[in-house]
Amino acid sequence: MGEKKTILVTGGAGFIGSNFVYLLLDERKDWKVVCVDALTYAANIHTLNRALENKNFVFYKEDIRNRDGIFSIFEKERPDVVVNFAAESHVDRSIENPGIFLETNIIGTQTMMDACRKYGVERFHQVGTDEVYGDLPLDRPDLFFHEDTPIHTSSPYSTSKASADLLTLAYHRTYGLPVTISRCSNNYGPYQFPEKLIPLMINNVLHDKPLPVYGKGLKVRDWLYVKDHCYGILAILEKGRVGEVYNLGGHNEKANIEIVKIILKELGKSESLITHVSDRKGHDQRYAIDPSKANKELGWGPTTMFKDGIKLTIDWYLKHQDWMAECTSGEYTKYYEEMYGNRK
Ligand code: NAD
Ligand code: DAU
Repeated sequence: MGEKKTILVTGGAGFIGSNFVYLLLDERKDWKVVCVDALTYAANIHTLNRALENKNFVFYKEDIRNRDGIFSIFEKERPDVVVNFAAESHVDRSIENPGIFLETNIIGTQTMMDACRKYGVERFHQVGTDEVYGDLPLDRPDLFFHEDTPIHTSSPYSTSKASADLLTLAYHRTYGLPVTISRCSNNYGPYQFPEKLIPLMINNVLHDKPLPVYGKGLKVRDWLYVKDHCYGILAILEKGRVGEVYNLGGHNEKANIEIVKIILKELGKSESLITHVSDRKGHDQRYAIDPSKANKELGWGPTTMFKDGIKLTIDWYLKHQDWMAECTSGEYTKYYEEMYGNRK
């Protein structure tokens, strides 16, 4: 897939999608990047400022559930490759309001694949999550998620993502659509919306606000720097086998409380800001990816160690406080109050 391509990226105004857009514009300079994003609360169009100046980039504000709109973009752009990042992505929101998760994450994925079938593509890549495997017990550090670990979801979010994965594999088997799926662990890095653990904690520390740690903070996540995830997706597009699932992760497990303490230390603030609040409903205990298939088949592995990546991330947020202020104005205030206002 080295030659000139048109690649259509959905959700490119969000966290991982925008990092992927910049990776493509920097490293695949002869590719045209078509970005489709509905600009929901989770997007910030200013994230794409630098991309919008690039002649190889075009942006469409469109909803992946809108068949007519999506089909007319395909008619015009005729993409060779489609990467579907667009999704409702926050577990806490899915617990409060599951419906939109089913619509965007399942029906939206179906719409994208129907357009791919009609117009023909070399590849449809579905960006999936390790949450489809459910969780692992905290006292079994020897256990990991493999690509053939049974799907066993906990939240409406992970269930909607698992449904999208199954539909993607069904489109491959039934219609021969050339698909691949990646399932990645927790990402961190620039442009992550501050409803997620790391940017939320950085933002609160910067404003001397309490840091709401769910329960005792002992749940474990497996953190990967966002650029490494993007390199993994590119490797799957260029070297992956059609019809396959690839797990992406960095063997970097940390308890939530450790992450919060690292952020406090980096920013020179006191641990007295930590506030333990009631736990997430159905909270997954531990995620841990076995990435050996991607290592062996694609030569992919993480390149940014957590100790460096977290410094880069904190530094980025310190330098982009205007971006953070844009994200936390308006709807965010209401969300924060509803989610954390009365939480004991
Ligand atoms: P995000 O919430 O930051 O961004 C999602 C983007 O999709 C936003 O720009 C939003 O406007 C757009 N979008 C939402 N609904 C849309 C719709 N109906 N039509 C068009 N655009 C729409 O999400 P993220 O964290 O960047 O995650 C991107 C993808 O990666 C998701 O599919 C998510 O499930 C998956 N993923 C995320 C992580 C993580 O740690 N963040 C890890 C593994 C997989
Ligand atoms: O594993 C991949 C998944 O990682 C992605 O599929 C999701 O899109 C992404 O949001 C992320 O899901 P998590 O639920 O793991 O991420 P979140 O940042 O919401 O929470 C991380 C952990 O921190 C989780 O155990 C809950 C906890 N937490 C989170 C927030 C927002 C807190 O303790 N306090 C908080 O305020």
